[in-house]
Amino acid sequence: MSALTLSTSSAATLRADAVVIGVAKGPKGPVVAAGAEAVDKAFDGKLAAVLEALGATGGEGETTKLPAPSGLKAPVVLAVGLGEAPAKDEGFAHEALRRAAGSAARALAGTKKAAFALPVEDADAAGAIAEGALLGAYSYRPAGNAAAKKNDKGAPLAEIALLGGKPRDKAFKAAAERAATVAEEVNRARDLVNMPPNELDPKAFAAAAQTAGKEFGLKVEVLDEKALLKGGFGGIMGVGRGSDAPPRLVRIGYTHPKAEKTLALVGKGITYDSGGISLKPAGHNETMKCDMAGAAAVFAAVVSAARLGLQVNVTGWLALAENMPSGSATRPGDVLKMYGGKTVEVLNTDAEGRLVLGDALARASEENPDAIVDVATLTGAMVLALGNRTFGVMGNDDAFRTSVYEIAEEVGEQAWPMPLPAELRKAMDSPVADFANMGERMGSGLLAGIFLKEFVGEGIAWAHLDIAGPAYHESAPYGYTPKGGTGSAVRTLVRLAEHTAAGDLG
Ligand code: BES
Ligand code: MN
Ligand code: ZN
Repeated sequence: MSALTLSTSSAATLRADAVVIGVAKGPKGPVVAAGAEAVDKAFDGKLAAVLEALGATGGEGETTKLPAPSGLKAPVVLAVGLGEAPAKDEGFAHEALRRAAGSAARALAGTKKAAFALPVEDADAAGAIAEGALLGAYSYRPAGNAAAKKNDKGAPLAEIALLGGKPRDKAFKAAAERAATVAEEVNRARDLVNMPPNELDPKAFAAAAQTAGKEFGLKVEVLDEKALLKGGFGGIMGVGRGSDAPPRLVRIGYTHPKAEKTLALVGKGITYDSGGISLKPAGHNETMKCDMAGAAAVFAAVVSAARLGLQVNVTGWLALAENMPSGSATRPGDVLKMYGGKTVEVLNTDAEGRLVLGDALARASEENPDAIVDVATLTGAMVLALGNRTFGVMGNDDAFRTSVYEIAEEVGEQAWPMPLPAELRKAMDSPVADFANMGERMGSGLLAGIFLKEFVGEGIAWAHLDIAGPAYHESAPYGYTPKGGTGSAVRTLVRLAEHTAAGDLG
């Protein structure tokens, strides 16, 4: 990942390949944002006029490259739009800073070092800029994949120097370090999602967890297909049995000696979702390598908690399987006995996420955590409801659901609370099992949540994040969001762990 430094140098004297400055949308044209004073001075105070003449408006995500005048060490100035100028006495929203830094970093792919001279009001603003820049400076570049290198616009920005902060101030240092850790972990989740499904099967995913476990001192336990069969994990086995790549359940645990709370995170890890015997048609399966994005987010969040040394226990559960059709695959009509004993009639093998999650939620509940959050690319219905950028938040406890939603908002992830209407439950009644794995089409994103709720232990606060929309970004990149895997929900989970550690929640 790119290197991040806090620097006291002036934008005029720092040796870099480009200087990034902010420009906002004012009532009468573009306004140069705070932090760019030295650069504006090198333009004889005419930077706003020059930008306006070049057609810049200060609109969100807009980037304008200018040759630097003499008086600046860097040869290029990149002006990035921050959107509407905030009201007097108010700073830019952190998400505006994060996105602008991300757009700038993307526009500078192929450049070695850039100095970011954006408005830094306080340590949190510095953290947001650092995070946005590091997340924008991402491309999926697996070792040995020459094509991936050839097809992107150049190596991500290698060095990011953040100006305008206080490098020796504790709060600034902490914000920069946190941003670097979180961004690196979001990028870890993105890499896993972007990996082709023939490279990342359940076994390879479990191996990645073991490697990270060794590196960061986490306890990693892997149940293979034999252990899953013996342990009664009928949901995970039922989904995985059609594939030549057998399923896994990974428990990845971070503990802090002074922790007072334990948070359990459960991730849907379908390394490829073909639909199984209820096969998806062409046009619906090309991106289904992303169906393990929930497990990737959970994995990255547990590693983040460890790297940040948070005073909370965080247990990740990765429910890993490949959903394939074959002579050994589960058929529509089969009845599975889930972990904990409940039976499920499988009416549609493409509703497989809830089957692997049901087992994992029941297993996670046995340890009686203070709260459980599951993350899953669960339903197309959630994408229809909320679009491609917003995840749905459901749960069995309104206060906890609201907290998770507010935390998402706090870190700049788009989310929205959704209900679990009790009357939808009876649509899953089955004549041969405790319930079926699908019901009516209407409200089917909520129905999936109601199914999951059956597996959450009595009295445990639980939230369900359906990230089917934002997990995988198919259109043009924007802000710090690249094409492909986005790392959706990682930042929300990390902040949730931080709040839990601080005792801010229930
Ligand atoms: N993995 C899909 C959901 C999905 C859709 C994720 C689009 C990302 C983008 C899930 O396993 C699925 O197939 N769900 C079905 C459930 C249905 C058969 C009850 C769906 O949403 O259509
Ligand atoms: Mn499916
Ligand atoms: Zn799926």
